[in-house]
Amino acid sequence: MSQPLIAPSILSADFGRLAADIAAVDEAGADWIHVDVMDGRYVPNLTIGPPVVKAVRRATQKVVDVHLMIVEPERWVDAFADAGADVLTVHAEAAVHLHRVVQQIKARGMKAGVSLNPATSEETLRYVAGDLDLVLVMSVNPGFGGQSFIDAVVPKIRRIRALLDEAGNGSAHVEVDGGVSDKTAGRVCAAGADVLVAGSAVFGKDDYAAAIAAIREAGGRA
Ligand code: DX5
Ligand code: ZN
Repeated sequence: MSQPLIAPSILSADFGRLAADIAAVDEAGADWIHVDVMDGRYVPNLTIGPPVVKAVRRATQKVVDVHLMIVEPERWVDAFADAGADVLTVHAEAAVHLHRVVQQIKARGMKAGVSLNPATSEETLRYVAGDLDLVLVMSVNPGFGGQSFIDAVVPKIRRIRALLDEAGNGSAHVEVDGGVSDKTAGRVCAAGADVLVAGSAVFGKDDYAAAIAAIREAGGRA
């Protein structure tokens, strides 16, 4: 099994020195930089918007992976494209016209992702599976960093991988977000994930390079 890509989530970074923290994880071997956008409506927390994504874009050459936890995501696609996002992921539960917003994201030259909460079935994706660049599987209820991994999502990761294969879209990424660490990465990758988001398991450690390497190796051993 090949090693997963690691996407540190800046939700757990020090926002007072964000550019420096991004440079540090970039140098420490991060593959993608994961940015959590929350609106206080779709999730019970408020974080950041396009101006900060623009600052993240300036701070790194790595893939800027933007996870929208907002209602009416279609209203913000252009703003995040203009800010420099490479990957834009919306929640299936937040998009009334999921097929349309996926096309809107791709039309702006970004990779299109759809995220599913722990209780949402993979069947929601059946008729867009061929169009997606990425599925983001939430392994916590979105809103906060530092929560415990929900084991019940592991079989869903496997089913999503199968659904993408059936749609002839085997090259799409399956990314897992929430409670991912060197303890959970193995199970997640064995089920078919190839991109791992990690907030507290990276930024909560003193040695970012060691933390990233430990998660990547745990995933690669799966
Ligand atoms: C939660 C966010 C996650 C969060 C993960 O809603 O989507 O990206 O930062 O944090 P950890 O890795 O600490 O669970
Ligand atoms: Zn996230």
